Amino acid sequence: MEHTQYRKNKSNLTAEQQDQITAAAQILREGGTVAFPTETVYGLGADVTNPDAINKIYQIKQRPIDHPLIVHIGDVSHLDTWAQAIPDSAWQLASYFWPGPLTLILQRSRHIPDSVTGGQDTVGLRIPAHPVALALLDALGPKKALAAPSANRFGRISPTTAAHVQEELGTAVDMILDGGACEVGLESTIISFHDQSPKILRPGGIAVSALESVLGSPVMLAHSTSQTIRTSGSLPAHYAPATPLRIYSTKHLWDRALALTAQGFRVLVMTWSDVGQSRPSDQSIEQFSMPADPIIYGQQLYAKLRQFDQAAFDYMIIEAPPDHPSWLAITDRLQRASYNPFDNNQN
Ligand code: TXA
Ligand code: MG
Repeated sequence: MEHTQYRKNKSNLTAEQQDQITAAAQILREGGTVAFPTETVYGLGADVTNPDAINKIYQIKQRPIDHPLIVHIGDVSHLDTWAQAIPDSAWQLASYFWPGPLTLILQRSRHIPDSVTGGQDTVGLRIPAHPVALALLDALGPKKALAAPSANRFGRISPTTAAHVQEELGTAVDMILDGGACEVGLESTIISFHDQSPKILRPGGIAVSALESVLGSPVMLAHSTSQTIRTSGSLPAHYAPATPLRIYSTKHLWDRALALTAQGFRVLVMTWSDVGQSRPSDQSIEQFSMPADPIIYGQQLYAKLRQFDQAAFDYMIIEAPPDHPSWLAITDRLQRASYNPFDNNQN
């Protein structure tokens, strides 16, 4: 995935949006919650320094309290307010990629309450690259920050439009700011500096190769099921639609789909390659072609999973993405979405 340098651009905001942002900032100052757009997915925000407001996030999301939240800040110069003992390499990444879809896990400062980090001594920080999110942080006040997980119920697909947030959270959230469809569509890349060498905890909007070329050294992927660092995105059953989802290689795609339709199931097949053109004539198979470009595929993935989930198919069959680093975040999310809790005893 090529890196795009994201820039602040507040001039795109309408007067109506500015007014809504002013109202949203007031709600946040009073300890309320506001869902807001970022370039990755929509976030459910609350004032970092207000533990009651943070608790509301956990209640609304029905998220276990030991799963830490990402803290969204407005400027790189605020980094050492919220984190300490920041390695040079973290500063390097922050100044290169922020605002942008990269979260740094660093040692937390005393300004970060326990409620935000689930009691851990580290904190996740990023500057979101969306004009509405940046204007909201500005309106909140100097050196203010927003703790914000993705604005979905725990274990569900992240929202990439304001309408998705409405579906997920309804009136449980005090306000939803609409900033259109998210440009990246998948969550941020999370890189931890907790150990000696940086490690990717979650692949995402920034490609590993882009991080490596800025750092000038290789960056490892952490084992995604590691129990030592609690990342709710690393639970196997994350990002799941209600419809059972299966991933099959291009070669076996139609065989598997036909085997299911032979049992009377309604099946949707989602392809990215031209294998879609060789769709069998079986009327009970529906097929949808996704873009073969990982950036555009990533933008659309969650919205499509949500849409097809509502169409009451018995199975969603997904063509396995290409085995190439530019598809890493997509493959990661699809694998989690295809996790079947009945396959083993994890929950
Ligand atoms: O793109 C994103 O990162 C979006 C937007 C809203 O910024 N946020 C997001 O938040 O995806 P959430 O909470 O849905 O996922 C954040 C992940 C969680 O899996 C959480 O456990 C992990 O980051 N995380 C946060 N702080 C951490 C920490 N101190 N150590 C390890 N993992 C952490
Ligand atoms: Mg999430």
